[in-house]
Amino acid sequence: MKIATTIKEVRKQVADWKREGLTVGLVPTMGALHEGHASLVDTAKEQCDRVVTSVFVNPTQFAAGEDLDAYPRDFDRDCGVLEAHGCDLVFHPSVEEMYPEGAATFVELRSDMTKQLCGKSRPEHFCGVCTVVSKLFHIAMPDKAFFGEKDAQQLAVIRQMTRDLLFGIEIVGCPTKREEDGLAKSSRNAYLDAEERKAAGILYQAICKAQEYLKEHLDTEDGKTESQPVTELIKDIIGTEPLAEIDYVDAVDGMSLLPADRIGDGDLIALAVNIGKTRLIDNFTVRK
Ligand code: PAJ
Repeated sequence: MKIATTIKEVRKQVADWKREGLTVGLVPTMGALHEGHASLVDTAKEQCDRVVTSVFVNPTQFAAGEDLDAYPRDFDRDCGVLEAHGCDLVFHPSVEEMYPEGAATFVELRSDMTKQLCGKSRPEHFCGVCTVVSKLFHIAMPDKAFFGEKDAQQLAVIRQMTRDLLFGIEIVGCPTKREEDGLAKSSRNAYLDAEERKAAGILYQAICKAQEYLKEHLDTEDGKTESQPVTELIKDIIGTEPLAEIDYVDAVDGMSLLPADRIGDGDLIALAVNIGKTRLIDNFTVRK
């Protein structure tokens, strides 16, 4: 496995591969890798001849006062994980490499999609994500790029951006990997102390109950149901956990991410909950 810190090195390696007729998959990450990230690399490996993984804690997607400085970083450990999963090239640039002095161009969706869900409390976040992902796309020029369904809004935003900017890259969504109690794996789970970690299990418990409810309540005619009882059910369950403070529990259209009064197959229920100081997100897609 090669490690590159400069854009030039990545471009050269990818050009060499393309000359040989090999396909390239890109897995963008911020490091502190866990089995969720590793599953993206595995899928990329299955679908592409060569896999590039970026490890870069992107400052522009963190607002002032968020956890940019505290974000866990352990590049040597990350390289061990990536090597074990057959990654071919790790791109680990400096902030200066990705944002040359004076960089003033940002990529922003002019769409209500980024104003929903996490966009309500993190208005700048998706502009930072789109900007860095655009840069990574230009650098690695992959055939396919792999993103987790755990960050469902990010996945939808990146699909839209990729279409709009004519990148010609296939975006592949990958299922959420979970801990034994169902908690979605996340680099931020490391912030939780033992008591908070236990409390965090409430998110998945609420999701399971909501899925059970939906199984019984989707209308036999149009396959839909009112969304409010579902979001209320989730809120009530999470409300029983004293350490949990809900940011949002929303039902949205699976494509536009706009609020949906009635939901059915393909629509999304997404939630963000603070456990102590740690903000956790999760979601599921409604299935018939
Ligand atoms: P990061 O949080 O490191 O996540 C990198 C990728 O791993 C994302 O596509 C995310 O959805 C996926 N992922 C995280 N947890 C997962 C899980 N439990 N199961 C499956 N996939 C999971 O998301 C980012 O970084 C950044 O915003 C980035 C896209 C790299 C841009 O900076």
